[in-house]
Amino acid sequence: MSTLRVLTGITTTGTPHLGNYVGAIRPAIRASQAAGTDSFYFLADYHALIKTDDPARIQRSTLEIAATWLAGGLDPERVTFYRQSDIPEIPELTWFLTCVTGKGILNRAHAYKAAMDRNAAAGAEPDNDVTAGLFMYPVLMGADILMFNAHKVPVGRDQVQHIEMARDMAQRFNHAYGEHFVLPEAAVEEDVALLPGLDGRKMSKSYDNTIPLFAPREQMRKLIAGIVTDSRGPGEPKDTEGSALFQIYQAFAEPQETADFRRAFESGISWADAKQALFERIDREVGPMRATYQRYVDDPASVERVLLAGAQKARHLARPFIATLRHAVGLRPLESPARAAKPAKAAKVAQPAFKQYREADGLFYFKLVDAGGALLLQSQGFASPKDAGQAIAQLTRDGAAGLTALAAQLATTAPGAAAALAQLAAPKADNGSVAGEEDPGAAVEPQA
Ligand code: TRP
Repeated sequence: MSTLRVLTGITTTGTPHLGNYVGAIRPAIRASQAAGTDSFYFLADYHALIKTDDPARIQRSTLEIAATWLAGGLDPERVTFYRQSDIPEIPELTWFLTCVTGKGILNRAHAYKAAMDRNAAAGAEPDNDVTAGLFMYPVLMGADILMFNAHKVPVGRDQVQHIEMARDMAQRFNHAYGEHFVLPEAAVEEDVALLPGLDGRKMSKSYDNTIPLFAPREQMRKLIAGIVTDSRGPGEPKDTEGSALFQIYQAFAEPQETADFRRAFESGISWADAKQALFERIDREVGPMRATYQRYVDDPASVERVLLAGAQKARHLARPFIATLRHAVGLRPLESPARAAKPAKAAKVAQPAFKQYREADGLFYFKLVDAGGALLLQSQGFASPKDAGQAIAQLTRDGAAGLTALAAQLATTAPGAAAALAQLAAPKADNGSVAGEEDPGAAVEPQA
């Protein structure tokens, strides 16, 4: 298939603000209009449950976000625009992925680690107030992405780790059950400005410094009047550098307008006039959309219809795909033939391999060699083959983290070791030997 599938989700916990619009919504809608792309945009309401237990807020946010995207010009005929919770195949896939995801990988997720760090700082238990939902967040997100085999996932920088985890899940699943998933890539828009908020910090709900995209005109004007400035008076030249007002203007204006605004700053425009100019510039773009937005918000049934139609389109793909995946993992009608059990293994790829051996000192050792036989890793001596086997199992399971954990038991670690472990990482003990297939005799199974 030659079209590029682009997919992204928006957690339904808030009201869209100017920062969301400039940083995500506007670029996504523009990208969806390009030829050769097949876009999937969805309201991540299952994810919202992880962040809030306020049902009314989730419902309201879902309506507002959907109305915003539609008012912003998203064409639901052209793209697939849906609500996550209308796709029951997603939670099912979440479970399949849960079963191939290393717990150690989830331990390293930034959001989970941040929660643990906060607890440590407060002297609380590490997992205090951490739900299993927060812990599993990346797996649900992996299912969102892999369900539609997206190639590109536009996200903010803070989400890149989640996309890497989704790749890892795809790899592990493919390794175990055959090539079902595309390996997705994060697309971080480098030149989209992070919009500053009222106080000059990044515009974000968590700083309470946002300007709602569809605030009524007069409220928008008041909010803009509240943007921090320095104390320079009318007639004094002003810095554009570091000016939140200027940066927001720039995000809406054409280059020529920005150049003019810069000159106005140099020649001492008053802050009041600058704020009025900013208000007018934003209103020129947002004003015409506001009426459409309001029409949708006042008629939730019309939005519901759009979302249900989108879900139908999405499930048209998800339903047969989950059927294939169910079959692949072995959830099958009992009378259907057990076809090639492990398709991925049929394609014999030269693999790195562990070799276990005993030295003259009576201790048990292992090494990891790459497909060409080069040494990647050499252990210290273990008292028993079982201990050595357990170390191998740990390395295979935990990859780079295992290398760190077992550092004291390793004599040599070459730079390629982590990558080789990732290649070997098998989700289940029965899912193929950790040894290279070309040399089964020399290999020893880990005692998992
Ligand atoms: N976690 C994303 C965020 O907070 C939202 C999201 C959920 C998402 N599922 C996704 C983004 C799948 C991209 C792809 O921004």
